[in-house]
Parts: sequence; C-alpha cells; structure tokens
Amino acid sequence: MRFDILTIFPDFVEEYLKTGIVGRAVERALIECRVHNLRDYTHDRHRQVDDYPYGGGAGMVMKVEPVVEAVEKIRADGLDRNVILLSPQGHPFSQQKAEKLRDEGRPLLFVCGRYEGIDERVRCVVDEEISIGDYVLTGGELAALVIIDGIVRLIPGALGDENSSTEESFTWGILDYPHYTRPREFRGMEVPEVLLSGNHREIWRWRRKQALKNTLLKRPDLLERAELDESDIKMLEEIKEELENAQDTSH
Ligand code: ADE
Repeated sequence: MRFDILTIFPDFVEEYLKTGIVGRAVERALIECRVHNLRDYTHDRHRQVDDYPYGGGAGMVMKVEPVVEAVEKIRADGLDRNVILLSPQGHPFSQQKAEKLRDEGRPLLFVCGRYEGIDERVRCVVDEEISIGDYVLTGGELAALVIIDGIVRLIPGALGDENSSTEESFTWGILDYPHYTRPREFRGMEVPEVLLSGNHREIWRWRRKQALKNTLLKRPDLLERAELDESDIKMLEEIKEELENAQDTSH
C-alpha cells in the first residue's frame, strides 16, 4: 500500500517511517512511503507556508497555494489517491476506519496542518478529514503517523508470521485480555493457573472472559456496539454476578 505525507517536518516523519514494524514493512516492500516537504512548493525566497489571518486574531494560518500545488503535483503521477486532511474537526479515527482504509487499498496522501489552522480553501483538493481524538495537537504529523501505524499492522505479513492482528479482541470491538510472560511468580504475584494448563479451550475461554470483564469495567460503552455471540452474553452475565458477589462480601 502506498502512503504520501505532506508536511513541514519531513525529517521527523521520515525517522518514524524507518522504525519498528513500519520500517520493516517498508523494507519488505509491503508498503511504500514518500514524504514531501511543503516548503518545496512555495515560490518566495523565505519559503513561507503561513500568513496572518484575515479578520485578525492570534496565530498564523497555513497558506492555500503551497498545499494545493503540492497535492496537484503529487497527484500528477495518476495514482487514484485518497487525500486526507488531519484536523481536530475531522471524522474520528477508529479500528473500523483503519480496516476500511486497508481493505480499500487506495494510496493515501496525508496533508498535515500546522499553526492555528489551515486556509479553508485547501478543501478543494481534500477527499476527507480525519481526527485522531478530541484534543488539539500542534500539527497533523503525529495524527498521520498514528493512522499509518494503525493500518500497516493490519497488512498481512507486517507483524511477522508469528503474530496476527486478526485474533485481537479489538477486532471484535472489545478491549484486550491480560498478558503474562516469565517469571511464573513476581513479588508474590502469580500467573493465572489456567494459562499454564495447556488446555487451549479453557485458555481461550478465560481470555475471552477477561477481555469482556476489562471492557465492562473500563469501557462499557464499547459493549453496546461490539460483536457478541450467545456465549459472550452468558459470560457477561457470569461476570456481573461475580462482581456483585464480590461487592456483597466486601460490605
Ligand atoms: N491536528 C491537530 N489536532 C489533531 C487531531 N486531534 N487529530 C488530527 N489532526 C490534528
């Protein structure tokens, strides 16, 4: 899959794309990434990408011409790109959105905004606007990398043969179960017995139940939208009963 990133901090973005799982995916040619310096699309001596806001007020606004010219030039190679503007006003990013972008497989061009905002007219070259959460960052670079990271790990082969993102609980819309590795006991804290049993059915059941319990306690809102089957619903009833009993005995 192909990713292009338009930014005023190309070195920062390049560095991340060389790192870890994403870096390995580039080396294995599972993905292709190109970083474009927005200042290369300016025409003035100072390579200015921002200017004062019409109407006054604090802060600078990202100029329209460099962004639009850059997007047009990048698009001139004819690839059918989806141009994504990162901003807090965008559609919220999610696991489902990562899966959708992966499944579509369209080349993505990320436009990273900076400063207090971006000239509204850049929208003439933007296909969609995405936010990674209800908070304001100083720019879109981290958001673009979050989205790329979330997609890359879903590409077959990116996590290596030993790992698979398809078995993750988040794929079903619930939180993860607890994980343990050696040692078997640490400062009196033991690894749950079932994980040492070798009984895969029981292990799977335990993990599923813990994932449901985690979700009920930490993010109950997710349960309303999660893909739950009959046995999950039964497990949830069990969990609620156990929690109530634990409360009763603590009083
Ligand atoms: N740029 C600044 N804040 C952002 C956010 N929350 N998501 C995406 N891009 C942003």
